[in-house]
Amino acid sequence: MSSAPTELDESDEAVRVRMVVNGRKVACDVAPRVTLVDCLRGQLELTGTHVGCEMGACGACLVQLDGRAVHACLMFAVQADGARIDTIEGLSESGVIADLQAEFHRRNALQCGFCTPGMLINAHELLSQVSRPSREAIRDALSGNFCRCTGYEAIVDAIAAVAEARAAAAQGRGDSSR
Ligand code: FES
Ligand code: FES
Repeated sequence: MSSAPTELDESDEAVRVRMVVNGRKVACDVAPRVTLVDCLRGQLELTGTHVGCEMGACGACLVQLDGRAVHACLMFAVQADGARIDTIEGLSESGVIADLQAEFHRRNALQCGFCTPGMLINAHELLSQVSRPSREAIRDALSGNFCRCTGYEAIVDAIAAVAEARAAAAQGRGDSSR
């Protein structure tokens, strides 16, 4: 006996989403229920954005949307239509977080690395808003990024060191331009 055909659920019909991802124009056909993180990882193969809790609590899925950090697990891909998305791959290739990456590496601020892309994106956002955050402010900014390996101390050290180095470099540029 053959089973009855499954009725097409209109909510499954693909929608075209256009974004600029890491500087490249892309178009993805996704069902409306597909999250941004699943679109990035599954369709665009940008697997540096990780999936942990899928409820906005762990920070593993952070990406930048129009320059601000957002949880890609909490957004549907269709909500990003027309937006600029920067993932950890794009930020790495552009070199804007090279000093943060180097300092994380130098200070052993990562072990398994699962949390690291989200940590770096959040650290990048923090340092673009506050040039010399206190250790307390760094810890506060990272309160939504879970790390099960490092104990956070080395991560805070790395971010504080980059903040100091950037401030010193800016001071040096200011001095030499006078
Ligand atoms: S996977 Fe998005 S916050 Fe945890
Ligand atoms: S380095 Fe493993 S979770 Fe942070």
